[in-house]
Amino acid sequence: MTAATEPQTSYVFQGTVDKPGLQVVGGKSVYIDVEKDGVVHKNVIDAMTGAAVGALGSADEDVFKIINEAARESTYSFCPLISNKSSEALSKFYIENSPEGAFSSALWLTSGSESNENALRIVRQYYLERGLPEKVKLISRESSYHGFTLGAQSISWNPRIEPFTPYLMDRKSVCLKMPPAYTYRFKEKAETEEQYTERLLGALEQQIIENGAGTIAAIIVETLPGSTLGTTPPPKGYLKGIRALCNEYDIIFYLDEVMCGTGRCNPNGKLNCWENYLDASEAPDIQTIGKTIGSGYVTLAGVLIGPKIRNAFVNGSNSVFGGNTYSGHAFNCAVALGIQKKILKENLTANIFKMGNLLGAKLKERLLSADNIAGDVRGVGGFWSIEFVKDRATKQIFDADLNVGPRFKQLCLENGVNVMGMPAFADGSCGDHALVAPAFIVTEDHIEEIYEKIVKSVDDLTSILKQEGAF
Ligand SMILES: Cc1ncc(COP(=O)(O)O)c(C=O)c1O
Repeated sequence: MTAATEPQTSYVFQGTVDKPGLQVVGGKSVYIDVEKDGVVHKNVIDAMTGAAVGALGSADEDVFKIINEAARESTYSFCPLISNKSSEALSKFYIENSPEGAFSSALWLTSGSESNENALRIVRQYYLERGLPEKVKLISRESSYHGFTLGAQSISWNPRIEPFTPYLMDRKSVCLKMPPAYTYRFKEKAETEEQYTERLLGALEQQIIENGAGTIAAIIVETLPGSTLGTTPPPKGYLKGIRALCNEYDIIFYLDEVMCGTGRCNPNGKLNCWENYLDASEAPDIQTIGKTIGSGYVTLAGVLIGPKIRNAFVNGSNSVFGGNTYSGHAFNCAVALGIQKKILKENLTANIFKMGNLLGAKLKERLLSADNIAGDVRGVGGFWSIEFVKDRATKQIFDADLNVGPRFKQLCLENGVNVMGMPAFADGSCGDHALVAPAFIVTEDHIEEIYEKIVKSVDDLTSILKQEGAF
């Protein structure tokens, strides 16, 4: 506790309460300057762009121009009553740059959490429009993250959420959970990837039938899970299988691409991560997005709506109840559109897919062939993770008290690279891990620098844990 006589050094109620902690004090391109305890670490290469947010890096001169123009041309209005041209234009852009027929409408919000909250309202209203009020149950996954608000936490599940259970929607009657698709830990040795998928889909179908298909509203998954499981790609056929079950049982297929979407992991130089795994005809009915849509320059996120959902509204009440003060915000949408056009014009989505895969392949080859704490290296395009284990053969995780994930992040910072370090789950179902998600503008030289600094940090932490007798 802070003694009454000590001067107060932080006035922000976030992170560590009694002191400012890490502060960003500057940035240019893919480098940031970070201050800690009065010491500035200059030119840290930002391999994580905050929380997988930055596409264009910091202080982009073109973005300054886009912002300037958007500020002059945008007039605030409360969009549910008076909309604007920029939110229309951004919606049209996203739809036109997604596979044909996938989406037909979009709603713009200010955070991924808010997008998931709004998506849940859309799910509910969709069934009311169709006269099916009993379709209320949501099936999402254990070990998932969909945001910080209470609705978003209700469809999520991970140990960090557990203390807030009393305020969350009931897990038996509304927010049902299914197991994660986590090949590294839960595919049996004797199983093929396809057999693992079959097992997961079989259990899901049973869950649907046991609960009564007529009560299931939506199945919700992160296309490529981020902060909870660390970029574990869906096993072969898994997303296709969920799509087929949703078709068969009249359920909304809802993908959360807040962290992995909007160009971070697209194989076609476009926007959606699911294009790695699904055809256009298998597109989700609802998809939430965020993060790179505004590249950290504006706070924007959204809900993309497929034709099936839109048609039900149009053929029903043709109206959406209420809205948020800053939904469809003209300035934010105009800036995001300018940013997305620049990304497309400069082929930056294709660049991050190639550069990210290069980084992933290099890390995999080097880390998994040497004696160190890395147990798995996985990811797609511009989004990768390293999972740390005490024993590579048994995949045993480190004791939670060792704080391996957060310590790795700190070591990386000292070595001049910014990553995200996440702790293990105490029940052993996921190890400590580190995430990387660089800006879309990275070059091969940047990748080399990130690679070398991450490898050095893994080797440093391995030596430290050896000295402590923990590895
Ligand atoms: C998959 C996913 N969904 C939703 C969110 C919530 O987004 P926000 O932090 O912008 O509210 C996050 C944030 O990391 C996320 O990773």
